[in-house]
Amino acid sequence: MSKVLKIGIIGSGGIAQAHVRAYQTIDDVEIVAVADIVPGKAADFIDRLQLHNAIPYEDHRRLLDSDLDAVSICTPNASHYATSIDALRAGKQVLLEKPMSVTLDEAIEMVEVANETGNMLSIGFQPRYDPNMQTLQQIIRSGQLGKVYYVQTGGGRRRGMPGGTFIRKDLAGAGAMADIGCYSIDLALHALGYPKPLSVSAFTSNYFGTNPKYHPEASKFDVEDFGVAMVRLEGDLVLNFKISWAMHMDTLGPTLFLGTDAGLKVTPAGTGPWSGVWDGRVGSITLFHDILGHHTESPIPIREHKVDLFREKVFDFVTAVREGRPAPIPASEILRNQAIIDGILRSAQLRKEVDIHLPE
Ligand SMILES: NC(=O)c1ccc[n+]([C@@H]2O[C@H](COP(=O)([O-])OP(=O)(O)OC[C@H]3O[C@@H](n4cnc5c(N)ncnc54)[C@H](O)[C@@H]3O)[C@@H](O)[C@H]2O)c1
Repeated sequence: MSKVLKIGIIGSGGIAQAHVRAYQTIDDVEIVAVADIVPGKAADFIDRLQLHNAIPYEDHRRLLDSDLDAVSICTPNASHYATSIDALRAGKQVLLEKPMSVTLDEAIEMVEVANETGNMLSIGFQPRYDPNMQTLQQIIRSGQLGKVYYVQTGGGRRRGMPGGTFIRKDLAGAGAMADIGCYSIDLALHALGYPKPLSVSAFTSNYFGTNPKYHPEASKFDVEDFGVAMVRLEGDLVLNFKISWAMHMDTLGPTLFLGTDAGLKVTPAGTGPWSGVWDGRVGSITLFHDILGHHTESPIPIREHKVDLFREKVFDFVTAVREGRPAPIPASEILRNQAIIDGILRSAQLRKEVDIHLPE
């Protein structure tokens, strides 16, 4: 038996349950502490999930004083920065829920603190563990597309707006982009080796969320429910990104990679008003190429076998901690994702193209 890995959970809301269930499937891992700022909530969570050896806290800093190896941070986006900086400085390895932060400046500091402390900061983008994502990545990285010069990603829900903390700027930082858009940006850019974003021109709106006809919490809604952006990336590559929580349309189009030798079309899985966004579940992948001058479309076989993506994410994190490996989904890479979201919000507010400045 290996040493028991002691885990703390910060934020005991919806997604924390998925973290706990995943940890519970792994040998020699124990949840020993849970913190939530709402009095009594961590204790209820511990009871409900039968975490018999866990101690409840109301302040994450108290939890971090205890004997722990690693933490899962499952708080709303606005607390990601402070909780992860505190956890890294307290010597813990960190699995942080997406999106990484609210602003780019926060994300830059989080990476600096991870580097300075030598502790791991891994961001929870579980769709990366989808086997079809790995197929897609292999095709792109094999060079079959030639030079990729255009990528279009995101997608749109006809009607699929969450509520609660997700629609409040003070807690979420952004709306559809922070909730679902960050996934498609991650999947597309990760496949391309995460080229550095240089500038962005964007538009956002919230005509649906702020209208009581469409959202029961319209009076509290102050994030975007729609966003579109043209992002210039290093290496003469452009990203056309579109995301919507609600619209009068069935689709904002598939994910496309255009290369000089071939193109790749990816459609998301699922039907219904909450689908239409590429969040890692793949409906189809088609390679567009020429064979002896004939326009050819080759469907790439979709791997149907079920993978518990959440479990894969948590398992990979635990294994990396045990083996002293680098973060499986490093914050230093996701910084570029955050830079794009930050740039979109700035550009939309200023109504003009803005530059993206990242540390070298
Ligand atoms: N990876 C995924 O599939 C996935 C899915 C849903 C949500 N998320 C992300 O997980 C995060 C949480 O989402 P959720 O749906 O669980 O939200 P939630 O509102 O259900 O839960 C958040 C909890 O954190 C607590 N909290 C807030 N600030 C805190 C602090 N400083 N210290 C301790 N506790 C604090 C709140 O009281 C609440 O109980 C968000 O960042 C969201 O984007 C990820």
